[in-house]
Amino acid sequence: MWNNLYNVRDRFYSRKSVRDYLNIKLNIDVINVLIDIGFSGPVSGGLKCVFIREISNSKEKRICYKGAYYQEHVLKAPHIFLIGCNDSIIKKKYNREYVNVFSCQNSVIAAQNIIIAAHEFGLGTCFIGAIRKDILVEGLNLDKGYNPWCILCLGLNRGDNIEI
Ligand SMILES: Cc1cc2nc3c(=O)[nH]c(=O)nc-3n(C[C@H](O)[C@H](O)[C@H](O)COP(=O)(O)O)c2cc1C
Repeated sequence: MWNNLYNVRDRFYSRKSVRDYLNIKLNIDVINVLIDIGFSGPVSGGLKCVFIREISNSKEKRICYKGAYYQEHVLKAPHIFLIGCNDSIIKKKYNREYVNVFSCQNSVIAAQNIIIAAHEFGLGTCFIGAIRKDILVEGLNLDKGYNPWCILCLGLNRGDNIEI
């Protein structure tokens, strides 16, 4: 049972944030599986409150770029996800003091699951926590209660020298 102890640890340590991607779109199945995996983690109260939205059109991508303090890799990554929670769902079950913290925790767990899974698929990611919620909420026209916590960049690492 513990044969893989050090291999598993080494897999985690081999993950590094990637900020320079090949300009190649991934297969839709890969994207969908990663999104599913994002929803597989623990969530406060087992609520269905996490949202993981792939931002694919270029106008929305530019809004994310602006909403991430103009970090170039947000603009250049072939795929980006906006991850957060619908706080109105959390509010129905928990006191106000818990809403923000659960919202953040749920979202970051979802992001981390995607990060680890992507690494296992040979893909690079970068967690973007430096965001301006005001720009994202307004620019992307997010529904009331939708609270974004991070952007996740995803793609093939240019540094991996993959043969196409
Ligand atoms: C809460 C948090 C916020 C982060 N925000 C950003 C960010 O806005 N932009 C970025 O390029 N990397 C961001 N990162 C990635 C870190 O810079 C990175 O994980 C760290 O330097 C360690 O490097 P590694 O991921 O390669 O191990 C963030 C990571 C965390 C956990």
